[in-house]
Amino acid sequence: MNTVLVGAQWGDEGKGKVIDFLTEEADVVVRFQGGSNAGHTVVVGDKKYVLHLVPSGVLHEGKHCVIGNGVVMDPFDLVRELEQVQSWGFDIKGRFHISERAHMVMQWHRALDAAEESARAAGRKIGTTGRGIGPAYAAKVGRYGMRAGDLLKPNFADIIRIRTEEANAKLVSLGAHELDVDEMIRLYTPMANALLPYVTDTVQFLHESLDANRQILFEGAQATMLDVDFGTYPFVTSSNPTAGGACTGSGVGPRAIDRVIGVLKLYTTRVGEGPFPTELFDSDGELLRSRGGEFGATTGRPRRCGWFDAVIARYAQRINGVDFWAMTKLDVLDAFPTVKICTGYKRDDGFVYQTFPADLDVLAHCEPIYEELPGWQCETSHITDYDALPENAKRYVARILELIGGKLGVLSVGPARETTLRIGV
Ligand code: GDP
Ligand code: IMO
Ligand code: MG
Repeated sequence: MNTVLVGAQWGDEGKGKVIDFLTEEADVVVRFQGGSNAGHTVVVGDKKYVLHLVPSGVLHEGKHCVIGNGVVMDPFDLVRELEQVQSWGFDIKGRFHISERAHMVMQWHRALDAAEESARAAGRKIGTTGRGIGPAYAAKVGRYGMRAGDLLKPNFADIIRIRTEEANAKLVSLGAHELDVDEMIRLYTPMANALLPYVTDTVQFLHESLDANRQILFEGAQATMLDVDFGTYPFVTSSNPTAGGACTGSGVGPRAIDRVIGVLKLYTTRVGEGPFPTELFDSDGELLRSRGGEFGATTGRPRRCGWFDAVIARYAQRINGVDFWAMTKLDVLDAFPTVKICTGYKRDDGFVYQTFPADLDVLAHCEPIYEELPGWQCETSHITDYDALPENAKRYVARILELIGGKLGVLSVGPARETTLRIGV
């Protein structure tokens, strides 16, 4: 059984926790897009682990972890994270693999990310994580990127020189400081030795795994509404976090995928700029943020919070072909006397959108239409059996499923491993 797991909203749905749960049955966990803009949290016992580039499956000894070709990886971030994982007591020898084809995020990509963001006028800023993601993907599709395989080349220093000089021209045009070419060569040369043991042809590795009937779990980062094609463009990331990205970002065909699991937080959050129809600016929003601990795992920024939006969840169901939902953070809603679900967007002239509009200007003229349901106002995080949940909580979940399609596979009622209810997967 090969599974693709994707975020269905604007990220931070609890993908790391669900991946950790599903890794029990997997043999290989693959990241297929994004980079260290991701922050995936796994809580085991009284320990909290946050992973950015390394697949969340690494916390299970013996499972293989792959950085696929679709990822953009910052060698410094990766080396630091691998050291951290080992300091936590996990052995990675022989089970960590980086695609030769994966592009690298270089210092100049970070500098360009900062310079481009500061050059954007108010209202046009994206609120990026500052991790150099956009410029690294721009270099990839512009065909002036650097790949992990370049670390193996004898002319590595020459490649760095050319790329730094090209980036400097852009940095200067943006009013930013140039980078020192020799300093870049000095910085990156040791990276080759640090990462060489892991760089390999992961397409070959994954196909050998498929042939041996090993179970592969594809770990999406970011989410559907941050997808460069389907999200709230231009307030998106620069990759395809949707299910299709699992194929292009790893080198397996669509027929190798047996099921798609969408991770869905039972309310909505967003970090950074861009439209968010159900965003709350009142005490309910504050309560969601404080109860849910909604602060970025990568940047520490407070996350914007709002009610559950069934329009985007239904859209995510279609785009990803979600078979099963992993619904998270039910417990955060325990305190609310009523809970709301957005079922459509109403335009000034009365027209109702039930699908997500491609043109963001439309959203400026829309109000969310809410359906109100009674809350349950009792604790759910100790519950281990779906049937034992409060009736109103089950009604809330059932109504969401009715609106968005797909089946319930996993329900999460707390951050810890054991607060995970397996339903249909
Ligand atoms: P990801 O980016 O999708 O992996 O999600 P993050 O790790 O950025 O954010 C999810 C946060 O919610 C983390 O702090 C998790 O520990 C926490 N979390 C996950 N599932 C649950 C849940 O069911 N209930 C509560 N209260 N917290 C959860
Ligand atoms: P995980 O995997 C939430 C957001 C940023 C910004 C936009 C573009 O933890 O769910 P980028 O640095 O990618 O160019 O920023 O995307 N963003 C995320 N928001 N969770 C993430 O990852 C995100 N990764 C990027 O806040 O709005
Ligand atoms: Mg996150």
